[in-house]
Amino acid sequence: MLSSLAYLGFRSPNSDQWRTFAPDILGCMLGEDGEDGSVRVRIDDAEWRIQIHPGETDEVAYFGWAVSEEGMLPAFAERLRAAGLTVHTGDRGLAEKRSVDQLIWFEDPWAFRHEVVWGQVVEPSSFRPGRPVSGFVTGKQGLGHAVLLLPDVEAGHAFFTEVMGFRLSDKIARPDGTQSHFYHCNGRHHSLALAQVPGAVGLNHIMLQLHNIDDVGTALDLCRARGVPLRKELGRHTNDQMISFYLTTPSSFHLEYGFGALDVDDDWVPATYRRASTWGHKMTDDPAGRTPGILRRTEAVGA
Ligand SMILES: [Fe+2]
Repeated sequence: MLSSLAYLGFRSPNSDQWRTFAPDILGCMLGEDGEDGSVRVRIDDAEWRIQIHPGETDEVAYFGWAVSEEGMLPAFAERLRAAGLTVHTGDRGLAEKRSVDQLIWFEDPWAFRHEVVWGQVVEPSSFRPGRPVSGFVTGKQGLGHAVLLLPDVEAGHAFFTEVMGFRLSDKIARPDGTQSHFYHCNGRHHSLALAQVPGAVGLNHIMLQLHNIDDVGTALDLCRARGVPLRKELGRHTNDQMISFYLTTPSSFHLEYGFGALDVDDDWVPATYRRASTWGHKMTDDPAGRTPGILRRTEAVGA
């Protein structure tokens, strides 16, 4: 029922650093600031896709998931209520802040706020990249993907498939026993992934996909020239076959910057992989790149 990842929101003491980081390194465009001084990051003709609000600590503020038809919002709300969740209807003011026509929102069992939206505001032919890149793969595939860290991936699997309606793309089951699960809701191999971290809840990284491998190469050069901490070197993933590298954003979480992921369709058959990468993706020695992302201990949220 969900059709794509429409937007992501964060709070960060370093929100202002995104004013140069997003256009100069990532090739994004800045939209108009939000009313609280938030930095709005554009990657296509949507009014914004990533919003960084000023805040005292780095936090995930919300996930915005699109549905493709207006009538699906009440149906999705019913589905959530049937699962025992408290569902709120966003008023006009909130819809305006999120640049959508309508939305509902709720908190999942790990206290992540999800907003389910319809009618994202777009301005045709308005996107101009912040540096010379060929552009981002969005459209029906949405903004990219997000990787959550949960204490129990199986509990996450049950919630995100049975309640949220995601479909499993595949799993990476490593020889050390750790598992990651990947989920799609459109042709993108995964819009959501879950990785297990005992005793903690968080967000490891988000991914933006470029149209051209040279966009990835020039970003890698820029990161090295400008001292942007890298988390993982260039490599190719086993499952979605994306060629990418991982950099650390000004707000604790990492960003996978990639090219060339395969698409999935209704005939897709999940597989299990033993490792995440066919080649590369070596963890860097940079201590700033080795943080796990935005993390909070589960005791704080009772999970
Ligand atoms: Fe990723």
